[in-house]
Amino acid sequence: MRPIFKVLPLLALVAALLLTPSDASLLRRAKNKTMSAKPFKVLITHPEVPQSGIDLLNENCELVRVESLPPKRSELLQKIRGVDGILWGGHEALNAEVLDAAGPQLKSISTMSAGIDYVDLDEVKRRKIPLGHTPTVLDNAVADLAVGLLIAAGRRFHEGRKKIETGNWENYHLNWMLGQDVRDSVVGFYGFGGIGQAIAKRLSGFDIDQVLYTTRRRIDRETEKELNAKKVEFNELLTKSDFVVIAAPLTAATQGVFNATAFNKMKNTAVLINIARGKIVNQNDLYDALRSNRIFAAGLDVVDPEPLPPNSKLLTLDNIIILPHIGSATNRTRSDMATIAAHNVLRGLVGERMLSPAY
Ligand code: DGY
Repeated sequence: MRPIFKVLPLLALVAALLLTPSDASLLRRAKNKTMSAKPFKVLITHPEVPQSGIDLLNENCELVRVESLPPKRSELLQKIRGVDGILWGGHEALNAEVLDAAGPQLKSISTMSAGIDYVDLDEVKRRKIPLGHTPTVLDNAVADLAVGLLIAAGRRFHEGRKKIETGNWENYHLNWMLGQDVRDSVVGFYGFGGIGQAIAKRLSGFDIDQVLYTTRRRIDRETEKELNAKKVEFNELLTKSDFVVIAAPLTAATQGVFNATAFNKMKNTAVLINIARGKIVNQNDLYDALRSNRIFAAGLDVVDPEPLPPNSKLLTLDNIIILPHIGSATNRTRSDMATIAAHNVLRGLVGERMLSPAY
């Protein structure tokens, strides 16, 4: 049986959707006040926002849509004028320029992402504009990908593929292409929120020995017990972990934390996984640590910059596997993200608490 606390976030979401007045009824009230069929104008900043979110907004709002792909900032800045709400469907900078262009009537914004490092949060707060984002719905998709990366990096998938392509399939060796076991390993999490915990839950099925985690605040005791997890200082996390998973938001405090000093504390058999944000890792130092085999391997879904230039020296290494930031890229997850973002926008428009407020 799943302990009740594990399903609480989901229950809270369902309850929020079922028990509070629906966005539609809130909007009906707003409509009655203004006597207009579609009382709010909402900008969709990306032409590929899934239909689930568009349909929800379209019921009660006049929609304005950015049509260029990739979205042109100039089109966005022109269409944003006078809107009441924004569904922000990309990782473009959401800053004072955008907010100024929109105007003082702007009441509600939601991103379609968990991480909001591209948002000038201070500016949004200063203007008291409610901001939503979409954590939780993407935990499982990102966790699946993280487990894939962890195995792929630890078991040398990328290098193996290159051996085939270059005619170096040397299976006459007995100790050829040996990698790291997940079984009995210590997995250390830098950041241990919903995504980190979803990864740990999956890895418990691989018979790992222990989970360590470094966070500002200790998580609840029940979850610690269920995941066999222990909070430790960053130093201990680095020295004791066989796999180190970065699952923290990018902030001034986390930027560049994984640098040469950190890599020098890690085991030389350690595997580093990053599914959070590229800037948390100093990529030059990572290159040196991998090239000198100071650490064993790395698996990255996020890099800095994105897109990574095709001539990046990281791509020359055998012991790294790099994906193009596709952690949340599944049909269902993307559609769920659009739905939550649309609810956030609708709720913000009528002055109700968003489903997942970012502050
Ligand atoms: C997020 O939502 O922050 C993921 O990185 C996907 O964008």
